[in-house]
Amino acid sequence: MNLALYSPNNGYYRSNVSVIGRQGDFITAPETSDLFGYSLARQCKQVLNKNASILEFGAGNGVLAAQILFELARLNSLPKKYYILELSAQLKQQQYDTISKVLPELVDIVEWLSELPNSFSGVVIANEVLDAMPAKRLMFSDGRFFELGVDYIDGQFQWHLFDEPFLESMKIPTDNFIEGYKTEINLQALDWVESLYEAMSDGLVLLIDYGMDRIEYFHPQRSEGTLRCYHKHKASDDPFVNLGKQDITTSVNFSDIADRASDAGFEILGYCNQAMFLLSLGIQDYLLEEKCIEKRIQLAQQIKQLILPSAMGESFKVLALSKKLTVKLDGFREQNLTGKL
Ligand SMILES: C[S@@+](CC[C@H](N)C(=O)[O-])C[C@H]1O[C@@H](n2cnc3c(N)ncnc32)[C@H](O)[C@@H]1O
Repeated sequence: MNLALYSPNNGYYRSNVSVIGRQGDFITAPETSDLFGYSLARQCKQVLNKNASILEFGAGNGVLAAQILFELARLNSLPKKYYILELSAQLKQQQYDTISKVLPELVDIVEWLSELPNSFSGVVIANEVLDAMPAKRLMFSDGRFFELGVDYIDGQFQWHLFDEPFLESMKIPTDNFIEGYKTEINLQALDWVESLYEAMSDGLVLLIDYGMDRIEYFHPQRSEGTLRCYHKHKASDDPFVNLGKQDITTSVNFSDIADRASDAGFEILGYCNQAMFLLSLGIQDYLLEEKCIEKRIQLAQQIKQLILPSAMGESFKVLALSKKLTVKLDGFREQNLTGKL
């Protein structure tokens, strides 16, 4: 997964072709509607003070950054800096192009980082980043989980079951699974959350992604795990085709992330689905404020896409972590399911 997505020459996220958006392979929430970024900006405004900045990870083609900056400028609450930490040089260029085209007057407060900062203060945002971090695939056999590696035999990639059982101390219940049950664990994402704590002096972290709590993640019916591939808006579960030309992703186990975050020192401020988060932040206000009927119809369609359970509303979740910041976040006014994690 790491090589297929990030290998410098052939990795999927290293390609010069646009992978996100209608012309690409999948559409993310900021691509769906500007109202997504505007609502997030409202959440940022609640906690941003004069000296605070925003740090966005994996900023795709820069649309979310532009939306947040646009709205914060309108609300007279611009951050000191808008940092972007992006691994791909190609995407960095796209982000620069997007922001300088839409907001030429604000491009100067955007700064690209190549590694985690030392003592960041402000709001960290990662939309659909955890799901893009390389995960390990596991299979249940003889009462234990084993890692599924990748072998290359006779010119073909195929799954290979390791002989040694996988990290038995991980928080995976070992009852209730049928022989051959598959699942994933994202050790890289867990390490990333831990290192984020070290990189921050104080502030808020908003992690937005598709995923669920541990009980749902290991549901007996999810026997093929959560690994999915996307190529030209078609989903499949075969990572061995379209190598470097399709996205490979796994759902986020938010209980694992929250546990590691707490162990690192973060406070868990909130967890809810995307629909409730956006509604709590008043996404509907933008619709009511729009005078033009045609635009209102468009916005209503976009909001539906972001909040309906059959679209992105229920499968996407928001997890908020904080360091040295105690506040009741506006985004969790309507729902806070932290207890389910
Ligand atoms: C599915 S895209 C999401 C893009 C964008 N956030 C959006 O919502 O449109 C995943 C992004 O995460 C980035 N990414 C993956 N691991 C990362 C890491 N450890 N640090 C920063 N970015 C990362 C990838 O390079 C890619 O840009």
